[in-house]
Amino acid sequence: IGDVPVFSDKVTETNLHLAAKEVAKSGSVVAFPTETVYGLGGSALEDSSVEAIYAAKNRPADNPLIVHVSSLEQVGRLILTQLHKIPSVYDELISKFWPGPLTILLPIEEGSPVLNLVTAGQKTVGVRMPSNNIARALIALSDTPLAAPSANASTRPSPTLASHVEADLKGKIPIILDGGACSVGVESTVVDGLCSPPMLLRPGGVSPEEVKQYGGKQWLDLVLAKKTAGKMEPVRTPGMKYRHYSPSAKVVLFNNCGDGRHAVQKYMEHKQCKVALLRTKKFCSAADMGYSDFVERNMGTTAVEIARNLFKDLRAVDEMGVELILVEGIDEVDDGLAVMNRLSKAASETIDGADLQ
Ligand code: TXA
Ligand code: MG
Repeated sequence: IGDVPVFSDKVTETNLHLAAKEVAKSGSVVAFPTETVYGLGGSALEDSSVEAIYAAKNRPADNPLIVHVSSLEQVGRLILTQLHKIPSVYDELISKFWPGPLTILLPIEEGSPVLNLVTAGQKTVGVRMPSNNIARALIALSDTPLAAPSANASTRPSPTLASHVEADLKGKIPIILDGGACSVGVESTVVDGLCSPPMLLRPGGVSPEEVKQYGGKQWLDLVLAKKTAGKMEPVRTPGMKYRHYSPSAKVVLFNNCGDGRHAVQKYMEHKQCKVALLRTKKFCSAADMGYSDFVERNMGTTAVEIARNLFKDLRAVDEMGVELILVEGIDEVDDGLAVMNRLSKAASETIDGADLQ
């Protein structure tokens, strides 16, 4: 494969048909926009397609993939066996959040066509119906359930623009459908309603508060799967062990540091390097902190805005060749939970204001 045709801006009907034909072939993959992040899709029913996904991303094969559908009818016909239907525990969540950024785990039974390679050998399969029109058209036209992880190279921040996909996967995939910027900006929320109490496995575009509010009474005791790093842990968190969502520059996360002046000055003592500052709610400008040479981005003040800009801004300042990215954390409530989950994985060091007093 030489140059990747990037079908820019307006994805035409012809381009969509071409991509749908491509993605239905065994062994082929296509990058496409969703409302969360760009996905790298291949048929969930073809070993060679799923292998091509892992190969393009350079992803270890022990992490299960989400299967994307364009209709409920496809779930019954292409994912579950004839004997089974979607467990009723999901009824209210599906009517509220599908299509949208919510992934549910469905049971895999004998005879299910979904591949072991997709589920990584688990007894469940993660399924979601994206709300992005291009994504749904691609799936509907190909009538193929698409296994699709985020379309970044493994360990890199997830792509929220077609240019991010191009930067990571150029030459490795045949088609990138360009649908512009992703509106949510972080991945889907993954929930398991098959266990009791039900569990939130990954925070994302739908907040835990919303799951509880709209899921029906079984979801009221929703529990969050254990995080990798707790708020009260010592200042240094070993982020390097599980690099994920990471730019090349070192990411330092500042929590509870007020306007940031004191914490950033303390952190920057005796340091001489090219720095980017990603502000959110309370940090003052780099100039007000006394640094005229910092690259600076304001990611927004609401968690929803910050989620939309997070991966884009991490990538943008990284491309400018900074060595350090200082990021202002936010409260881990509502949509802030997903933002902080991604940030704590991207960061190799966390500074907590409470420890600086
Ligand atoms: O928003 C999204 O979900 C994006 C877009 C492309 O749809 N996709 C995405 O896929 O983020 P990926 O592969 O990067 O993340 C899939 C997540 C992982 O955390 C994986 O462990 C979890 O979903 N997952 C998938 N199937 C699972 C299963 N059967 N059991 C437990 N966790 C599962
Ligand atoms: Mg991913």
